[in-house]
Amino acid sequence: MVSYFDHAATTPMRQVAVDTWVEHAHFLNPGGQYRSGREANAVLAQARETIASILGADPVEVIFTGSGTEADNLAIRGFAGTPGARIVSTPIEHPAVRETVADLAKHGVSVDLLPVSQDGVVGLTDALDQPASVVTCMWANNETGAIQPITEIVSRATAAGSPVHVDAVQVVGHLPVDFHSLGATTLAASAHKFGGPRGVGVLLARRSPTPAPVLTGGGQQRGLRPGTVDVAAAAATAAALEEASAEMDAENKRLTQLRRELIAAITHTVPGAYATVLGTEHPPQVLPGHAHLIFPGANGDAMIMLLDSHGIEASTGSACNNGVNQRSHVLEAMGLPDDHADGALRFTLGRTTTQEDIDHLIAVLPDVIEKARSVASL
Ligand SMILES: Cc1ncc(COP(=O)(O)O)c(C=O)c1O
Repeated sequence: MVSYFDHAATTPMRQVAVDTWVEHAHFLNPGGQYRSGREANAVLAQARETIASILGADPVEVIFTGSGTEADNLAIRGFAGTPGARIVSTPIEHPAVRETVADLAKHGVSVDLLPVSQDGVVGLTDALDQPASVVTCMWANNETGAIQPITEIVSRATAAGSPVHVDAVQVVGHLPVDFHSLGATTLAASAHKFGGPRGVGVLLARRSPTPAPVLTGGGQQRGLRPGTVDVAAAAATAAALEEASAEMDAENKRLTQLRRELIAAITHTVPGAYATVLGTEHPPQVLPGHAHLIFPGANGDAMIMLLDSHGIEASTGSACNNGVNQRSHVLEAMGLPDDHADGALRFTLGRTTTQEDIDHLIAVLPDVIEKARSVASL
């Protein structure tokens, strides 16, 4: 039996997305002025309309990209890509944002980082009240699942006249999103996090202010992301998002219950184990499918390999370099001691997670942790 607990990394494609992709795979260039082009463009327009109406945006604001990473890059580099620009960000961003900001900092861009609490929640400071080229913050953290005070960040930064980019990659398809009422300038999403195809991102971009184009080319998608759009992938993304939204309430109740049960069992049976972010469930302060746990004194790589030998697929959630886990910058920013940060495991539940998967994990974990602790002590 294989139990997949890495849904926040990527989740299986929904059948409706596969079917929609296959149905539209024959479409040609949506920019063509002849009949097949117009037909392809009609499908693309419908995909944009569906995504826009679910996410509270206008169709023209929906820009398809090649990944969530690309959507983040287009926004951040588009607003703050020139020397002298100022960025306000946080120390817990995904590498798609963090490395982009770090790269810009090497080229004459100044960066202010907001503080982070022990619970993994970003704090608001007066750095938000000075005009910035862009303020960029994630909506929910990919490692811990902690939901950030994004409404407050957007309104405070907007009051200072700063454009705001929201990395909502872990949120879109999982929690309700209304781009217009949030008031952000740009927002990034990624189809493979909600059952769409891998290699498809979405950037919601208000008409004004608009990030400067990073890519140059044929002028497609308002010139913000030139290149021929993959119509089948766009339609499959819309279909996945539609289904994810329809199932969201019931699915979140189910996952919240499984998550609660999993955390209770693990913290009861494994000595010293604790959940990094408990949060409240109403209103949600943590993503319903995220169970991020600390096993002080256990070796991260050993935990992953031992779990894998039992058919359990999980991750530490932090960046992985050549197959070796690196200490998480998120847990460092939260002030966790090294031996706690090194013993972090992220179990992310999703659509295919069953009670049997939870029982399987609970049954094997105490022994796995005991062995991973003896590896660490060698
Ligand atoms: C918060 C966050 N931002 C950005 C990304 C990058 O998305 P993609 O894999 O589509 O490039 C991820 C993926 O894990 C993520 O979790």
